[in-house]
Amino acid sequence: MKKVLVIGNGGREHALVDALARSPQNPEIYNFGSGINPGIKKLVKEIKIGNAKNSAEVVTFAQSIKPDLVVIGPEDPLSVGVVDELKKISVSCFGPTKKCAQLESSKSFTRNLLQKYNIDASPGFAVFDTLNEKAMKIFFDKFQGQIVVKADGLIGGKGVLVAGDHFTEFSEILEFSSRSIEKFGRVVLEEKLIGEEFSLISLVDGETVLDCPAIQDHKRAFVGDTGPNTGGMGCISDEYNSLPFLREEDLKEAHEITVQTMQAIEKEVGEKYVGVMYGGFIVTSRGVKLIEYNARFGDPEALNILPILESNFLDVCDKAISGNLKEIGRLEFKKVATVVKYLCPEGYPTSPVKDVPIKIAKDFKETENQKVLFASIAEENNELILKGSRAVGILGTGNSIEEANLNCEKMIQNFSGPLFYRKDIGTKELIQKRIDHLKKVIVS
Ligand code: AMP
Ligand code: GLY
Repeated sequence: MKKVLVIGNGGREHALVDALARSPQNPEIYNFGSGINPGIKKLVKEIKIGNAKNSAEVVTFAQSIKPDLVVIGPEDPLSVGVVDELKKISVSCFGPTKKCAQLESSKSFTRNLLQKYNIDASPGFAVFDTLNEKAMKIFFDKFQGQIVVKADGLIGGKGVLVAGDHFTEFSEILEFSSRSIEKFGRVVLEEKLIGEEFSLISLVDGETVLDCPAIQDHKRAFVGDTGPNTGGMGCISDEYNSLPFLREEDLKEAHEITVQTMQAIEKEVGEKYVGVMYGGFIVTSRGVKLIEYNARFGDPEALNILPILESNFLDVCDKAISGNLKEIGRLEFKKVATVVKYLCPEGYPTSPVKDVPIKIAKDFKETENQKVLFASIAEENNELILKGSRAVGILGTGNSIEEANLNCEKMIQNFSGPLFYRKDIGTKELIQKRIDHLKKVIVS
């Protein structure tokens, strides 16, 4: 029997474990993370509590169970090189090495890579390793202040300042830039792109790129795209495994950018990229552009994608590691629309309630079109306790986004407690707003 170790214990990892558990090989699954996820617990043989950012801890656990394969969920273990350390003890990983994972961990690495290999997908940008106020002001003025400032490292979704949303005056970006330079050695300034964003997550082996359905995330905490940025409040995809505002050629453009970037990274660092390349793209009046790459599945995107994956996920991971993804041909997904909404503790993300229980209706049942994925939640004395971040991801599927949304909303009725979520995700009104916005952007 195959042994698989999954690193991480959030909603994304619940979806990963669930997809692996559905594989016909029926693998024995182990989990390593900072706590016990009640959804993961039901599906695995053993959970080891530990710090996934500490390579030595992960290696020690891997040595004790001798997995055939390790699947890494979050970005932090990738950025510190857990894959490299596991490789040293001959353990195969579905996830990029530290050098390849710079695609996510360093914004300047990715922008410079695209520039060096003539991949035409970046906005105007400039990298600063000192607080050169004069040059920064020139960049700011060149784009009439419509810029984005990015810390050059991982700071849990708080590393980006967008003109209009987070600042208006030049002076406001200096303090953030100075902190980024101090912490990471650099800061990146970018032209602010206008358009509609989408995520195209691809599974790659260094040679072949297989795409998942295109998804749209909703980053703002509150209804109507207001409030602070979050890790993502929910995602949608349509019954064609795409999005209502995307054209076939947008997806082709995004796919091509990922193919070129995968090839460029091997030339640059001398290692093949194995694992997930998650492109955050935006359709603009100048075509599809890259906002950023992540080196892992998105959360919540994974909650839309993995439950409708019909291909054998364990086989896909194995083939990616052995460089044989080409044999898979394409990833198969159910042709259904998906709507995921995260139930979050009141006060999230700024001051979430914590360590309080929530309730689930006794007769609650998952169905063909409804799934529940646990995230920042613990089971204590037979109660589900909020742990301060996005708590429960609810997936509804259906023949249209409308139907998927209805199924999602019905399932949400089973949950009560100090929770909130974005009711507008997946509604006709919000989708029409996106379509109208893009039309306006493209003709402008
Ligand atoms: P994060 O996922 O925390 O890195 O936040 C990235 C978010 O910042 C994206 O989802 C975009 O909404 C926004 N963003 C980043 N770069 C740009 C850009 N060049 N133009 C417009 N928006 C951007
Ligand atoms: N949903 C956004 C992310 O996973 O980065």
